[in-house]
Amino acid sequence: MKQSETTVIHGFLDNRIFGIISGIAGEMGVRAFVIGGYVRDCFLGRQGKDIDIVVEGSGIELAEAVAAAVGSKVSVFRNFGTAMLKYKGMEVEFVGARKESYRRDSRKPLVENGTLEDDQLRRDFTINAMAFSLQKEDFGALVDPFGGIRDLAAGIIRTPLDPDTTYSDDPLRMIRAIRFATKLSDGQRQFTIVPESLESIRRNRGRLSILSRERIAEELNKILVCARPSTGFRLLDETGLLELILPQLVSLKGTENVDGHCHKENFSHTLEVVDNVASAELQAIAGGCLKDYVNVDGVEEERPRTAPNVWLRWAALLHDIGKPATKRFDKASGWTFHGHEVVGARMVPGIFKSLRMPLNEKMKYVGKLVLLHLRPIALVTEEVTDSAVRRLLFDAGNDIDDLMLLCNADITSKNPRKVERLKKNFALVSRKLAEVEEKDAIRNFKNPVTGEYIMELYGIPPCRQIGELKEYVKNAILDGAIGNDFEAADRLLREKAAEMGLVPVK
Ligand code: CTP
Repeated sequence: MKQSETTVIHGFLDNRIFGIISGIAGEMGVRAFVIGGYVRDCFLGRQGKDIDIVVEGSGIELAEAVAAAVGSKVSVFRNFGTAMLKYKGMEVEFVGARKESYRRDSRKPLVENGTLEDDQLRRDFTINAMAFSLQKEDFGALVDPFGGIRDLAAGIIRTPLDPDTTYSDDPLRMIRAIRFATKLSDGQRQFTIVPESLESIRRNRGRLSILSRERIAEELNKILVCARPSTGFRLLDETGLLELILPQLVSLKGTENVDGHCHKENFSHTLEVVDNVASAELQAIAGGCLKDYVNVDGVEEERPRTAPNVWLRWAALLHDIGKPATKRFDKASGWTFHGHEVVGARMVPGIFKSLRMPLNEKMKYVGKLVLLHLRPIALVTEEVTDSAVRRLLFDAGNDIDDLMLLCNADITSKNPRKVERLKKNFALVSRKLAEVEEKDAIRNFKNPVTGEYIMELYGIPPCRQIGELKEYVKNAILDGAIGNDFEAADRLLREKAAEMGLVPVK
């Protein structure tokens, strides 16, 4: 192991909490260090939100003493030997330095107390194993035994130990490596995983089986909200992990050629769409153009979106998932994927279940976007009628802006003329949508005549006729035959009901 650097870095430990921890650890006679992501992010110029403290001694005791000093509550996780407290919105987690060894069949380590060096050796990557000293005598000194700083500058992801040991100890790190390569890469610096590490991931991919699907999904979500998620999904594919996690996505790979007709390579296309969605969403967030609708005590509130919507990214990832099952070759029209949006939407619950993701309104949102992703562009094949736009608004509801964003992101082609034509059509639909939105309140359409109203008016019990009458009125509004208001709806309802032989009781 290389000697630790002793450079004292100024400015990174200005937060008062570091001085407090330093003083208390000194009184308790234990050595404490800031470690992990916080240290890495300092050097990357990013503001870390959580602080990890490693203690040569009891992390829980130090946390309890610090919590008492700052008047904060401490949460203790005895099974893991960790404790967490909140300080000015930051989570500060304490752990005793440990020497860990893992059993082959479990992620749960056998833990023994150790020194800082033992602890650093057992961490995932050199860039995550750097520490700042909190000792009075060298406060702020960087302890970097594996050249984390050098790797950070070169954009390299490397394990401190032999990668087979590091990944076998905790296989989640195979996906973490890919996540960091995706997250830390930006316009200025590309992060790469060293070749021996990539080979090790390929070799150890079977070890994923000991991980819970929830933890895998959590990592996938973190990759998806990055600025260029395709980097991560390509690496997942190259290392053979994707096949084990989301085989449906791997089935999108490849092209087929019949009589000189080749179809789009749907895997690359999907990744391009996910990247397009990511950059369009980030731009829209910066411009304050996207909103989220949250339910507060049964009332829907509108909030500006401030962070990426991971479910929109899932919708982009799965938008063409139904293509392999619907692929056909027809001599007259070439390759077709008719109905892939319907098949794809039906596949969403199975995929969510397999990754133990929420089977709630988030899943429904993804399914809905997959189902509707062709609709905005399909509107332009002929003339864009108000009624078609109203129906789209009715079906998409508050998700219309996300749907439009996905639809625009889906316009990818090697043929610039085709892209230009589709973008023009898309702009036409967007304009029409804005016009219709201004005129009618269709987005959150609620039928002005309710079932209860019809039952009371005609003195009838729940029956099929009520559904028919409501549907009739709804269609008339969406088609623009009548306005979206109670008077017009009531008039039409009474006409139709009379035709059906119904007579008002009052
Ligand atoms: N760590 C590890 N192996 C894991 C998870 C975490 O060695 N499977 C170590 C790393 O040193 C990491 C630290 O624990 O830096 C904290 O983990 P975590 O909070 O998950 O990640 P961060 O590095 O803080 O990064 P981020 O918050 O961006 O996820």
